[in-house]
Amino acid sequence: MTDKILKLKKEKNAVILTHYYAPEEAQQVADFVGDSFYLAKKAKETGADIILFCGVRFMGESAKILNPEKKVLMPDPSADCPMAHMVAEGKIQQMRKAYSDLSVVCYINSTAELKCLSDVCVTSSNAVKIVKSLKSKNIFFIPDKNLGAFVAKQVPEKNIILNDGFCPIHADLTAAQVLKAREKHPEALILTHPECENEVLSVSDFIGSTAEIIDYAKNSSSAEFIICTERGVEHKLFSDNPDKKFFFPEPCPCCADMKANTAQAILETLEAENNEIILDDEICKKAIIPLNKMLELAR
Ligand code: 13P
Ligand code: SF4
Repeated sequence: MTDKILKLKKEKNAVILTHYYAPEEAQQVADFVGDSFYLAKKAKETGADIILFCGVRFMGESAKILNPEKKVLMPDPSADCPMAHMVAEGKIQQMRKAYSDLSVVCYINSTAELKCLSDVCVTSSNAVKIVKSLKSKNIFFIPDKNLGAFVAKQVPEKNIILNDGFCPIHADLTAAQVLKAREKHPEALILTHPECENEVLSVSDFIGSTAEIIDYAKNSSSAEFIICTERGVEHKLFSDNPDKKFFFPEPCPCCADMKANTAQAILETLEAENNEIILDDEICKKAIIPLNKMLELAR
């Protein structure tokens, strides 16, 4: 199946962008595997005619917004991120009325419609840098309360108003589960994604995006790590560090939406060129503003 995918990809001048949480088979056929920021940059730079995005809906949408003239396909159109919907549009309007000096900072894990109502997008790897660089004192951070709270700690000079959205996969992890893993592996460093709850962040040795966790493990002199994020990162961790050991808390975090990106679905989608992301022109025109602002401020 891999050979068929690679052949079709070449014939159709398609690029495959795969998130670290997607299954190993989707990572193996990818042109680029990365975190959401890296993949957004690659989507903007590509010269391919077709972008096949092995991720969840908001990632495919961002690729489409950055390339409205290109065909953006997803192996499974139902792969969605529940957190991307976790803020009511009325709440954003309410905040804009309440504060004259307000920036709406939108985690890229959000629908295209929510991006249209926002001033700037961020990902977990650039949120602190971007929030620091904004002129407004008041920040409404949507939709993730956990990433928002993590940013608020790093940028105390801002008044960061939190929303109540969360990633169900990361928010399910508890400090007790993580500490149980550390009891079994007392030498291991705890590396954590900022979508986790504060009780998990507070027992961690390092907090960062998926790509930052992968870089940290590679550059660290430690040999054992407990990884507090979705299990898909293990493929890159194992291949980069054959001599190091990686453990996950139990139960191991797994995002079913990301796992929908199977080789079978990739092949069928490339063959049929279906599951295309279609967005209204007006939405694309508005949503590109905060995405481009992110790319500019993160530079
Ligand atoms: P990053 O790739 O930015 O670390 O985000 C994690 C995530 O949950 C994507 O869905
Ligand atoms: Fe969304 Fe969480 Fe899955 Fe990432 S891991 S796609 S934030 S549900």
